[in-house]
Amino acid sequence: MLSSYLDNAATSFPKPDGVADAVVQWLGTGAAAGRGSHSGSGQAAELLTQCRSRLARFLGVPDYRQVIFTQNCTDSLNQVLLGLLKPGDRVIASTLDHNSVLRPLEWLRESAGLEVSMVDFDPATGLIRLDEFETALRERATKLVVLTHASNVTGRIQQVHEMIRLARQHGALVLLDAAQTVGHVPVHFQSLDIDFLAAAGHKGLLGPLGTGILVVRSGLETQLRPLRFGGTGSSSESLRQPDEIPARFESGNLNLPGIAGLNAAVQWIETQGLQNLHVRIDRAVKRLHYACGSLPNVRVFSSPEDNAGILSFNIEGMDCQEVAMILDQSFSIQCRAGLHCAPLAHRTLKTLSTGGTVRLSPGVFTTDDEIQQAIDAVSQLSSAIG
Ligand SMILES: Cc1ncc(COP(=O)(O)O)c(C=O)c1O
Repeated sequence: MLSSYLDNAATSFPKPDGVADAVVQWLGTGAAAGRGSHSGSGQAAELLTQCRSRLARFLGVPDYRQVIFTQNCTDSLNQVLLGLLKPGDRVIASTLDHNSVLRPLEWLRESAGLEVSMVDFDPATGLIRLDEFETALRERATKLVVLTHASNVTGRIQQVHEMIRLARQHGALVLLDAAQTVGHVPVHFQSLDIDFLAAAGHKGLLGPLGTGILVVRSGLETQLRPLRFGGTGSSSESLRQPDEIPARFESGNLNLPGIAGLNAAVQWIETQGLQNLHVRIDRAVKRLHYACGSLPNVRVFSSPEDNAGILSFNIEGMDCQEVAMILDQSFSIQCRAGLHCAPLAHRTLKTLSTGGTVRLSPGVFTTDDEIQQAIDAVSQLSSAIG
């Protein structure tokens, strides 16, 4: 039996045609950008500009230099949190946040006296409680609001327009963690009116692992202390780190093979049309919800509407890791079970003490047969109980 990959929320697989070729081609001919006095180095610089411009167009970023290449979404989030926040600052985050937000915040809270205000979500809808959010904003001046665009546990897309409006009204900066939405639904940096956008290159954008993106609002770059200092291939006469973006945050050689793959991946998305890709995942995730939600002994923690592509569930009386193991070993279905690096979301869903949930996350290449195979497998497991 061919295996079905339903773990696209972790990283997308397979990648579109052309991505692996672009990586291999780069490895065969590549050089370092800004680090050579030859045409190969010029080609590398050209690739960076091409991929940056493509991403800027795709994400509604006015100037391509605002697009900074990172290693992954975690790296992008750390750059903003550790680079911006100072002792005594206040941040509003939520229980939906991933550990890539929660852990840097906890570090800053313990080591630098950062004040962190956590807002909860409603487990019935998966939506951050707007009343709690507004109350937190009113309490005290807030430097930064971190918004998870869609939860990686429930897939629920948040009411970010309203939350950004409220944050702006109270003078807070906004960091959007779009790890689960970029490449799934339109994310337009300028129209959203946010200050920082963090995303992965290897999830919805369908690029290779080891690629991430940070977008910084023009003018805010000098408020961010770089986390890495060093050679940028520019202004080499100066011992000071450049103020200009992207160089300010891109010290050391970049992951050019990965960026070559990412460039090919985003080009493929542009050709297919984001809306068409969205429809494929949306249809798959709705089918999973409608079928699994009506099975006996199955408890679903996500909902089919406004979902970035995730079904989260448990089978009564079975450990979620055991379910995932059986799905893998007996049905060749690859998924992820556990806390998904989002322990507070599980605390609110009341699945923390039982070890989390099983997560199925289809991708743009998931077939109707694979969805049916998953439904049949969950059905067999659930009916074997009791
Ligand atoms: C909401 C959210 N934020 C951040 C991350 C971290 O992304 P990365 O694996 O690219 O570091 C993830 C990964 O699953 C995520 O789901």
